Amino acid sequence: MNRFTIPRDVYYGEGSLEVLKTLEGKKATIVIGGQSIKKSGYLDKIDAYLREYGFETQLIDGVENDPSAKTALEGAKKMEEFQPDWIISAGGGSPIDAAKLMWIFYENPELAFDRVKAPNPLPALRKKARFAAISTTSGTGTDVSPFSVITDHETGTKYPVFGYEITPDIAIIDPELTYSMPADIVAYTGMDALTHGIEAYVSTMHNAFSDPLAIQSVKMAVDNIEKSVVGDKAARAEMHYAQAIAGMAFSNGFLGIVHSLSHKSGAIFNIPHGLANALYLPYVIDFNKKADGSRFADIAKMLDLSGNTEDELIDSLTDLLRRLNKSLNLPLSLQEFGVNESEFEKQLDRMAAGAIEDPCTPSNPREVSVEEMKKLYIAAFKGEKVTFCSFQSF
Ligand SMILES: NC(=O)c1ccc[n+]([C@@H]2O[C@H](COP(=O)([O-])OP(=O)(O)OC[C@H]3O[C@@H](n4cnc5c(N)ncnc54)[C@H](O)[C@@H]3O)[C@@H](O)[C@H]2O)c1
Ligand SMILES: [Fe+2]
Repeated sequence: MNRFTIPRDVYYGEGSLEVLKTLEGKKATIVIGGQSIKKSGYLDKIDAYLREYGFETQLIDGVENDPSAKTALEGAKKMEEFQPDWIISAGGGSPIDAAKLMWIFYENPELAFDRVKAPNPLPALRKKARFAAISTTSGTGTDVSPFSVITDHETGTKYPVFGYEITPDIAIIDPELTYSMPADIVAYTGMDALTHGIEAYVSTMHNAFSDPLAIQSVKMAVDNIEKSVVGDKAARAEMHYAQAIAGMAFSNGFLGIVHSLSHKSGAIFNIPHGLANALYLPYVIDFNKKADGSRFADIAKMLDLSGNTEDELIDSLTDLLRRLNKSLNLPLSLQEFGVNESEFEKQLDRMAAGAIEDPCTPSNPREVSVEEMKKLYIAAFKGEKVTFCSFQSF
């Protein structure tokens, strides 16, 4: 038996934030990150819409980028004191992911993080509260996804938490909240969304329900990302929808080793998640195409790229991705990003072993060994094209 799960309701379009006025309940905890949502005035709007219809509200702010389990435990304790029946998370992937973990701990205070991180199953939720997610970045898809990514800052490791219990009840995809995003964050998060669409389309878990969403999100992201970065509002709205559509695709079709490589190197070298994905994506496509290139060729054809053979089409796709990275001022190699060579060599074995264990690895279209994972990191470090076959020396 298979399952396809997305939020019960998705509200989208400029002004869709106002749907908060229609929520039924008494107490809402609002979870946010840093200052941007305060400065843009949207925190006040969220609070006012909730209060207008009688909600009492609590604010949990200051969730750090790449949140930790400690932050979530502290938030859950505050919720325990206030007893909300709605959790309203607003911001980038970081505060929304933290709020999802707060929700789990609020409803199940006896649980430790070790019992919650993937592949552990999640306990039933919604005995105390329902959950609304309002994204202010256009990348992660966490507003529609059953994932939360939690970082251990001591080891630099990211741990996904997975279970359809944490798929939000409501996603509010209001592009107005993204207009304040600076260009670099638009670029990083947009490339995260594009990577989600591509990885979901080629994943071994792709299916008839996730495919149309994945392919549609890729088209929308490729058509709009550059215009979105320079501030075109219509393109920003399209990117905001594309990230949610890609989120629905990967929530049900899953991801691949671009994300495994990113999860295990991002926190160590301080690489923003979307930038890391953008950097690794062409290398991984060159690696994965040796297992089955047909679905990458499908993507190239859908984008009207040139090529008479599967190989030519896939080369056009990786050329397009590299061109996009350059035009968005994103580095093409870890070295260009500024990763120090001796530090890279010191971390390589640990990163490769960790990437093999990452929950995104089993759905990658090509099986991968630790040695191959290392070679991928080395290729991405030096900026060398991936040409190796299994067990061939680098
Ligand atoms: N749960 C999932 O399904 C999933 C998927 C992919 C990534 N992630 C995780 O999400 C996190 C990254 O999330 P993110 O890329 O959205 O970034 P983020 O939430 O870490 O935010 C990055 C920065 O952008 C700022 N910001 C956010 N919205 C803004 C706006 N509208 N205007 C101005 N500034 C704004 C924030 O204050 C912050 O400084 C990582 O921890 C990553 O691992 C989760
Ligand atoms: Fe991602």
